[in-house]
Amino acid sequence: DDFAGRGVWRYAAALPFAEGVSLPEGDTQFHRVPRLEDEVGVESLRVKHEGMNPTGSFKDRGMTVGVRTAQALGVGRLACASTGNTSAALAAYGARAGLETLVLLPAGKVAAGKVAQASLHGARILEVDGNFDTCLDIVQDLAERGEAYLLNSLNPFRLEGQKTIGLEILEAHRADYGEYPDRIVLPVGNAGNTAALYKCFRELVQAGAMDRDEVPKLTGVQAAGAAPMVEAVEEGNDETRRWDHVETVATAIRIGNPVNAPKALPGIRETGGTAVAVEDDAITQAQRDLAGEGIGVEPASAASLAGLRKLRERGDVSADERVVCLTTGHLLKDPDAAAAAGADPEPVPGDTAGVLEHLGS
Ligand code: F0G
Repeated sequence: DDFAGRGVWRYAAALPFAEGVSLPEGDTQFHRVPRLEDEVGVESLRVKHEGMNPTGSFKDRGMTVGVRTAQALGVGRLACASTGNTSAALAAYGARAGLETLVLLPAGKVAAGKVAQASLHGARILEVDGNFDTCLDIVQDLAERGEAYLLNSLNPFRLEGQKTIGLEILEAHRADYGEYPDRIVLPVGNAGNTAALYKCFRELVQAGAMDRDEVPKLTGVQAAGAAPMVEAVEEGNDETRRWDHVETVATAIRIGNPVNAPKALPGIRETGGTAVAVEDDAITQAQRDLAGEGIGVEPASAASLAGLRKLRERGDVSADERVVCLTTGHLLKDPDAAAAAGADPEPVPGDTAGVLEHLGS
């Protein structure tokens, strides 16, 4: 493997294999955003941009390990249900491994860039008449019948790879500030990433590499139209109620039955974190604001900043906190959302005089 020891695989000691099917993934940007830091009003704010992975989302970190596992097991067909990013990652890593891939997508609810990726990387795409949760029900049935190997975040090997987000954040944050962050804010859909980060922290504490009181507060953000995790946190439950009707501009997290809730809810509670729901217009504004710092993200990713803002305004996050926001997917994943949030192109004549006149100069 050309990429052994790089990115995710730098942490092979914490992973079930020494190397994986790698493009390579991980080692993503850890941006300083001083203007947003001032505006939100926290001691420090960093943005970990997971949209910079090879297929444009954090799913690559899970898939490099997940597809390696599939190889080791010698399975035939790989499958997932997806709001888009998992399908793009599975298609690319499956192609790299030379394995057949099948993806189930909720018809009409997946952003254009993600479908294009799954398609060109050669996945067989089933457009399901139903939402993501229906797709996941079906693919779990297929896996139980031995029709395919499941590569959703229910697969624990996926979460092993995603632990490395936590390792990179902790390492970089301590190098810059001499301490770990107080809080990590992330968008939540199926709650796989939340569960992965919690496992990362638990393992470090168990290994004696981090004190219990140094563990960052895991803070989940959902869209108001798809917020069963927020409901569970507010009610103090360890499981979620299934939402049958979900809607949000952040299609990546348009999920009503977060299957990793039993692993993630204790993580939010035990770390002293919380969960918050944000409206679509706050998500879009946060997407514009991150873009204004040169950081291009898809709507679901911007939910992290929108959630931080809301918690800071409420006083649930204090001014002396060092915070990291996770942005999970790239702007180009959802070109339609980006175009709708941004400025409209201005038609002008095809000559300099006409352009100058239009500019008013
Ligand atoms: N952000 C983005 C961009 C995502 O694609 C997802 C999940 C999440 C956040 C939420 O992560 O599920 O670990 O809580 N996307 C999945 C998919 C569901 O199919 O691509 P989570």
